Amino acid sequence: MTLSDKIYKWLDDRFKLGELLPPIVKHPAPENVISNPLYCLGGTAFLCFLILVVTGIFLAMYYKPTPDEAYKSVERIMTEVPMGSLVRSVHHWAANTMIAAVMLHMIRIYFMGAYKKPRELNWVVGVFLLLTTTTFGFSGYLLPWDQLAFWATKIGTGIAGSIPIMGEYISLILVGGTDIGAETLTRFFAIHVLILPIAIATLLGLHFMMVRIQGISGRL
Ligand code: HEM
Repeated sequence: MTLSDKIYKWLDDRFKLGELLPPIVKHPAPENVISNPLYCLGGTAFLCFLILVVTGIFLAMYYKPTPDEAYKSVERIMTEVPMGSLVRSVHHWAANTMIAAVMLHMIRIYFMGAYKKPRELNWVVGVFLLLTTTTFGFSGYLLPWDQLAFWATKIGTGIAGSIPIMGEYISLILVGGTDIGAETLTRFFAIHVLILPIAIATLLGLHFMMVRIQGISGRL
């Protein structure tokens, strides 16, 4: 008996894994799904998300969200923290890849008509996932607190401010005043590491639950 067999048996004796796991793990997928890499785009986005969580936790251990310290702390991550520049770069590229994967995933759903009955609500959840993913990118962009970050946020919040009726309030909530400053930085940090992770975890839970219940579209 191998070590993994022994561990499985130990757990099975206590938690009845043999009865619990098959309905969760074993799930038939249509033949045309297994052989088509386009169906991997959602999974690719999810893998990027997991990488972002892990690298983000390490970055949060060194990053300081104040106007005096933010830029310096990022500089320290890049030059002094062991493997800091690698972790930051992986975070950066995983973020870009996730946005690309989510867009392509959505295009695949659209052109294959996978949003049609009974998956309409999962499309709606997907739209919120797209919004959450892009807001992750937008809020993360300000955190290094350099010129690029400052002016990109100025333009972004300006665009949000030009939305009819609600724009003024959205801009006020995001900026935390009339001009980008300390208040904006702490708000963007809270949005990036607290509000959006809770939102995306909830949405992903719903998204995967619906994929599970409805099954993946395609001919069995
Ligand atoms: C964080 C972003 C997202 C993640 C991690 C994600 C993940 C997934 C995964 C793993 C699947 C099953 C396999 C697949 O079809 O690729 C799936 C299916 C689906 N997703 Fe997403 N998704 C995301 C965003 C979106 C968006 C933006 C939309 C559309 C607006 C969307 C709509 C759907 C629909 C309708 C299905 C069912 C497809 C079918 O049955 O063929 N998802 N998603």
